[in-house]
Amino acid sequence: MGFLDGKVAVVTGGNRGIGRGISEALSGEGARVILTARGAAAAEQAAGEIGKGTIGIAGDVRSYELVRRLFSEVERRAGGTDILVNNAGIGLFSAVADMDPEDWRAVIETNLNGVFYCCHQAIPQMRKRGGGYIFNVSSLAGKNPIPNGAAYNASKFGLNGFSEALMMEVRYEGIRVSYLMPGSVATEFGRGSPDKAEWALTPEDVAEVVLDLLRSPPHALYSRVEMRPSQPPRKT
Ligand SMILES: NC(=O)c1ccc[n+]([C@@H]2O[C@H](COP(=O)([O-])OP(=O)(O)OC[C@H]3O[C@@H](n4cnc5c(N)ncnc54)[C@H](OP(=O)(O)O)[C@@H]3O)[C@@H](O)[C@H]2O)c1
Repeated sequence: MGFLDGKVAVVTGGNRGIGRGISEALSGEGARVILTARGAAAAEQAAGEIGKGTIGIAGDVRSYELVRRLFSEVERRAGGTDILVNNAGIGLFSAVADMDPEDWRAVIETNLNGVFYCCHQAIPQMRKRGGGYIFNVSSLAGKNPIPNGAAYNASKFGLNGFSEALMMEVRYEGIRVSYLMPGSVATEFGRGSPDKAEWALTPEDVAEVVLDLLRSPPHALYSRVEMRPSQPPRKT
């Protein structure tokens, strides 16, 4: 079927947007995909639409207990994890002085704590399977400060540092870590902007990079990928 036949891939936030595009691409290459969303109905519906044995499991990545249960389900139903795509993420934008501390917590707990929890659970499974590949979906906001974006910036700058440290920790165990830094992608993220569809990247563009990296020879590691729309609206 494809070059990922027999591989098991976990994609957080795989029901829509970028995660959905990545889930479809991995499944299209033969991987058994386990996708998550916060709600069971959304996860199961997306899995059903993708088909080919895709499994949808509810799991809020902010909860370590739910993430632990997710990965024991993955082990029970699919044997373990070969590919982990930490994609689930949110953006809440507000001036620091005005930001509700609950919103700050939600951004950091989803975009940063959730990635740690999933890696913490997935790495032992990858070790048992002789290696693996972890993709962290960061953002150009992981290097470009945005006014009113302090929480999101902090989460994605932090995710980049986390990814690089983790990459150095697990590389000799056959586990590769890459982080992707897309610019604008046409999804519902941050409620989207109406004209984005005309010029922005698509979830399929991001998914193509994931497939390219998985196809790269095991001795090579493209650890950080920046990607951006080639012709965004000019800033006047
Ligand atoms: N769109 C862009 O322009 C852009 C650019 C750069 C980077 N990114 C990054 O790309 C990733 C995906 O964003 P997107 O554009 O595809 O956004 P999206 O369409 O809003 O999708 C976000 C996904 O994350 C899931 N999610 C949110 N909070 C979660 C939680 N606590 N636990 C589990 N799943 C959760 C959502 O599922 P439910 O809501 O159904 O639970 C949904 O599947 C994010 O990390 C984002 O920071 C996006």
